Amino acid sequence: MTLPRHIAIIMDGNGRWATQKGLSRSEGHLAGAKTVEVLIKECLRHKIPHLSLYAFSTENWNRPQEEVDYLFELFCQFIKSELPLMLQEGIRFSMIGEKSKLPPSAQTALEHAISETKKGNNLELILAINYSGTQEILHAVRQSVSEILLQKEQKAYIQNLINDKKSSEDILSYLTSLFDDIHYTEQNLRNNLYLPDLPDPDFIIRTSGELRLSNFYLLQAAYSEFYFTDTLWPDFSARDFEKALLAYQNRKRRFGKIDEQLDQ
Ligand code: FPP
Repeated sequence: MTLPRHIAIIMDGNGRWATQKGLSRSEGHLAGAKTVEVLIKECLRHKIPHLSLYAFSTENWNRPQEEVDYLFELFCQFIKSELPLMLQEGIRFSMIGEKSKLPPSAQTALEHAISETKKGNNLELILAINYSGTQEILHAVRQSVSEILLQKEQKAYIQNLINDKKSSEDILSYLTSLFDDIHYTEQNLRNNLYLPDLPDPDFIIRTSGELRLSNFYLLQAAYSEFYFTDTLWPDFSARDFEKALLAYQNRKRRFGKIDEQLDQ
């Protein structure tokens, strides 16, 4: 049975679930948190090594302030209440997203859980909070380019070009040549993603019938398998997860090759 090593989930439909039941959106998110617990246990049971959960995108700041506040309260509570289970089960907690822009209490809770669980080696649980795939790529481009420009010799040389009042075309052409010299490749970019050692998601699940990626793992999803279900996130059960895993097992992943090459 081939299982995905890294499952990423876009947990969608908490609001609609609540509306259908005449409940508040917050109650929908609370029910969604219970599903998260179920999924973590299922991943442990199946020995899946990495689980990413898209909890809050950079676009989610546009929601009513009351909902945003509630979500952060829920994330903090969840991280604190799940810590004993994480330690007991060898879960390593990590996050992707721009942490520095989060409320200070959330930053503290996240940092605490990351440092307390760093030795966990059964399951890496990754929360995407204040995450955007576009921003992650931008971050990686900035970091990797800065690494090149910051090399001491380059810095001095660029300064000399500027002092010599070379034209901006000359300077640009020199900067471009730096990329050839160091053989700037996809790996330079990947080394500067939020979690460079994390394998790309093999399987991306989205609940609630929406058929889009919503800025999740844009670069890393290049060869991911997708699974969409109409089930709303709070209703997504262990059985639904089994069904999804079964669908994954029937996929043929070619990574751009042809069938004959895969058997070799
Ligand atoms: C999308 O549903 C859900 C979110 C933006 C928040 C995700 C949060 C949870 C699942 C709560 C608990 C999570 C953790 C990690 C404790 P939606 O509100 O967009 O639903 P709608 O599209 O039906 O309105």
